Amino acid sequence: MQGSKILAGKAVAEFVNQQTIEKIEILKEKGFNPGLVVVLVGDDPASAVYVRSKGRMCEKMGILSKTYHLPAETSETELLNLIDELNNDDRYNGILVQLPLPKQINEAKVIESINHLKDVDCFHPRNVGLLSIGSPYLLPCTPAGIIEILKFYKIETSGKDVVVIGRSNIVGKPMANILIQKSEHANATVSIVHSRTKDLQRYTKNADIVIAAIGQPAFLKPDMVKEDVVIIDVGINRVEDASTEKGYRIVGDVDYNGLFEMSSAITPVPGGVGVMTISMLMHNTIHACAKQNNIDL
Ligand code: GUN
Repeated sequence: MQGSKILAGKAVAEFVNQQTIEKIEILKEKGFNPGLVVVLVGDDPASAVYVRSKGRMCEKMGILSKTYHLPAETSETELLNLIDELNNDDRYNGILVQLPLPKQINEAKVIESINHLKDVDCFHPRNVGLLSIGSPYLLPCTPAGIIEILKFYKIETSGKDVVVIGRSNIVGKPMANILIQKSEHANATVSIVHSRTKDLQRYTKNADIVIAAIGQPAFLKPDMVKEDVVIIDVGINRVEDASTEKGYRIVGDVDYNGLFEMSSAITPVPGGVGVMTISMLMHNTIHACAKQNNIDL
């Protein structure tokens, strides 16, 4: 959809979900029932919300789903033993361990223990490597969702200057890695800026597209960008707000109201990138199922 200023995620998610539903039918006709298992350790309320919505989406789409909710004191060995069991459980094509994990557990070790063919997050070093050489197994969910938004709203990336704010393994680094590839919907010139960047505005002011993924409410301000910039807001920050029923509201990493006028297109929060992540997880799960069974989807 060309020319839309507000880059709503819902329409894109519905488009992607429809394709996923059709592909699930194909898999089922061939006798394969895709399955996803999610492991949550501890009581982080935001993580619990995400995990619940992943389970609900699986059910809605007809993907077998199971959630393990382990106590915050779970040891690394206990978690590794569960992952080993799930690696060998043919019902599950995808394994997702919700991050962050409690302090006593080494995240890198856990990620490496997941069978790379079941790594629907695309966090396993093997899959990160495949992505960086331009032969991805799957694309990590949040960056993949951003690419789908750019495709759907016909926002050109080829030859554009893109600035990614934030260098996380979940969003910033893979996002840059996808956008620099010599492939359709990529071919961008990408800078990653972060908390130690000297004169961050020097980069953001020159960007055609800014992707904000730093986890700081309203970090990106109007004086940091140029006119007609495209803004992709990955932030999901809870800020206290006594006037709401829950006592908080969700805001992004960009000053949406301040930036709306001068941007040529902008994702809202909520209702932008966030809704895409789960759609892409469903997409990855069924593609993992297809790849594991040598089916071309
Ligand atoms: N925590 C925040 N985002 C993600 C994600 O995409 N995958 C996992 N496993 N944990 C997360």
